[in-house]
Amino acid sequence: MKKTIVITGGAGFIGSHVVREFVNKYPDYHIINLDALTYAGNLENLKDVKDAPNYTFIKADITHAAHMLDIFREYQPDGVIHLAAESHVDRSITSPTDFVMTNVVGTVNLLNAARETWQGQLEGKRFHHVSTDEVYGTLGATGLFTEDTPYDPHSPYSASKASSDHFIRAYHDTYGLPVVITNCSNNYGPNHFPEKLIPLCILNILHGKPLPIYGDGKYTRDWLYVVDHARAIDLVFHEGENGESYNIGGFNEWQNIDLVRELCRQMDEKLGQAPGTAAQLITYVKDRPGHDLRYAIDATKINTELGYEPSVTFEEGLSHTIDWFLENREWLERVNSGAYQDYYHEQYKDK
Ligand code: NAD
Ligand code: TYD
Repeated sequence: MKKTIVITGGAGFIGSHVVREFVNKYPDYHIINLDALTYAGNLENLKDVKDAPNYTFIKADITHAAHMLDIFREYQPDGVIHLAAESHVDRSITSPTDFVMTNVVGTVNLLNAARETWQGQLEGKRFHHVSTDEVYGTLGATGLFTEDTPYDPHSPYSASKASSDHFIRAYHDTYGLPVVITNCSNNYGPNHFPEKLIPLCILNILHGKPLPIYGDGKYTRDWLYVVDHARAIDLVFHEGENGESYNIGGFNEWQNIDLVRELCRQMDEKLGQAPGTAAQLITYVKDRPGHDLRYAIDATKINTELGYEPSVTFEEGLSHTIDWFLENREWLERVNSGAYQDYYHEQYKDK
């Protein structure tokens, strides 16, 4: 095998697309998916690659420092692509400590394991940290986040991701660890966990339930198709400069209410319903505390330095996404059972 790469959080939404991209594109790499299988981890996301000869799954929790070191000593990875995280802003508001443990302590455990294993042999090694645009805080009506925008996180989620980014840079500056960071905008696509806006609305339309829009619905997010995020990670992992960070986005901003209306329009069409049927479910509910008004990525650096372009338009990506959920109702219904119902009830009961 030419390289051994540990991908953390590979059973989650984005991680599963990254694992698939690497397993299929690099048959001479050994891809190790390290994941604790929390509520968000689902090995069903990887059923098409689970028997590939260059793929190994290890169930492990990144908050366990000694276990991380054992795994790194045993497998001697050349690269790490770190996606494992607690990823939902609303959950970070109710359980912030979980976010500190996984996103901050877990990241530092992985950095220590890499540093210990790579001592004196840094040539060809790389630690790629997958982060978010939410570390930059919020924008007003104009402007874009660049790689030089000062960090200004507002939610416990974004604060924990910002902290992990700082540790990544500190290990580069202090110990010379070869790191890169990517900060991506909101993703959407197949396997998206239905606690997040787009799959939540798809599921609720299928069940005829209200589509909860926080506040006035004018909050703005910049959306990227998940496969295009995985392609960007591949590019930066192989061609990015050590110590650098790269914003990833597709210049695709939507106010939440406009996005949900477009989703409703496409769902009506695909389900053969009269136009306007799904939109009747739109319900304005109590706002999220500390809700960031607007995220928008300036993706000029990755475009000019590494030649990155998204491969699909938003309309195409959203259409593929809806088709995937309609063709994979069993996936959706299984995820929608059990513990997720308890979360949903608790999260939306006072709204
Ligand atoms: P997700 O919640 O769908 O998946 C997270 C995965 O990490 C799950 O498989 C879970 O089992 C695993 N995990 C959680 N805690 C763990 C632990 N302690 N040890 C080992 N594994 C653990 O998340 P996602 O949306 O796929 O996001 C992946 C990464 O990308 C995160 O770091 C997130 O901050 C970042 N990101 C996400 C978005 C987005 O829109 N979803 C945008 C930019 C960046
Ligand atoms: P979300 O998918 O949770 O991603 P993030 O908070 O990381 O951007 O939310 C996207 C936007 O949709 C955000 O502005 C919050 C809003 N939202 C709703 O209006 N209703 C909902 O039920 C959810 C989950 C989110």
